[in-house]
Amino acid sequence: MIKLDLSGQIACVTGSATGIGRACAMALAAAGAKVALNHFGQPALSLQLEQAIREQGGSAFSFDADVTDAAAVEQMFEQIETTMGPLNILVNNAGILLQKPFLQTTEEEWDRVIATDLKSVFLCSRAALSRMVPRAAGCVINVASELAYLGRDEFGVYCAAKAGVIGLTKSLAREFAPAIRINAVAPGPTDTAMLSLDQISAEWQEKELAIPAARAAHPNEIASTVVFLASDHARFFYGQTLSPNGGALML
Ligand SMILES: NC(=O)c1ccc[n+]([C@@H]2O[C@H](COP(=O)([O-])OP(=O)(O)OC[C@H]3O[C@@H](n4cnc5c(N)ncnc54)[C@H](O)[C@@H]3O)[C@@H](O)[C@H]2O)c1
Repeated sequence: MIKLDLSGQIACVTGSATGIGRACAMALAAAGAKVALNHFGQPALSLQLEQAIREQGGSAFSFDADVTDAAAVEQMFEQIETTMGPLNILVNNAGILLQKPFLQTTEEEWDRVIATDLKSVFLCSRAALSRMVPRAAGCVINVASELAYLGRDEFGVYCAAKAGVIGLTKSLAREFAPAIRINAVAPGPTDTAMLSLDQISAEWQEKELAIPAARAAHPNEIASTVVFLASDHARFFYGQTLSPNGGALML
């Protein structure tokens, strides 16, 4: 079995209090990385995660910041490096979903989804890369979505934001290669709050699961791809979007 070893590395996962971000933080820590846990006003959940990581022998610290706020993002990366040391790995995971018929979508909703799902990747990548470039080392992994490729009626803003993430991934991968590797994952349906009936209709939940795998992914099944991309085993991957999607999309 290939051992993915990230010992000595410092990683930051945005939106890590829940779901895929939480699984990424646990998996990066299990591979030996010290993990900066970004959350947005979820201190109790983040503290629980810190404790879970420490119980498995790892190290983690929580940082509360809204990743759509440039000043808060800059301050967070400053604090991460002061508290933990030079950042090696950034996972841009924070995101929100919006199911809304296009003609009912307001400008405020458009701005909120684009800010959370796309602008946050700009802000956090800028803050991280400005620190990684002088050290000529680092790695960024962006969490996109299979819906960026598929498109989906009533999910137009989300699909636009995630397609933007993939475009940004490719451009930044070219701009910062070879020292810094930038890649993305485009998960298929994954068993988190985002796939719950609070967020999408029963009709779409059913359609999301009508895929060859006939189930949603466990968040760990996305996290393992993220850990791979962060590891030296992925050293020839630049600007790629890997899509663990249960066969929903075959590229
Ligand atoms: N669940 C799926 O089926 C699925 C599929 C494809 C892609 N994704 C993507 O995976 C990522 C994680 O989603 P998830 O499924 O784990 O859902 P989730 O709702 O559990 O996780 C999203 C996290 O982002 C955080 N967040 C939201 N706005 C933020 C902000 N302004 N600042 C900081 N953190 C913020 C939330 O607090 C939450 O912890 C998202 O980017 C999502 O678009 C999810």
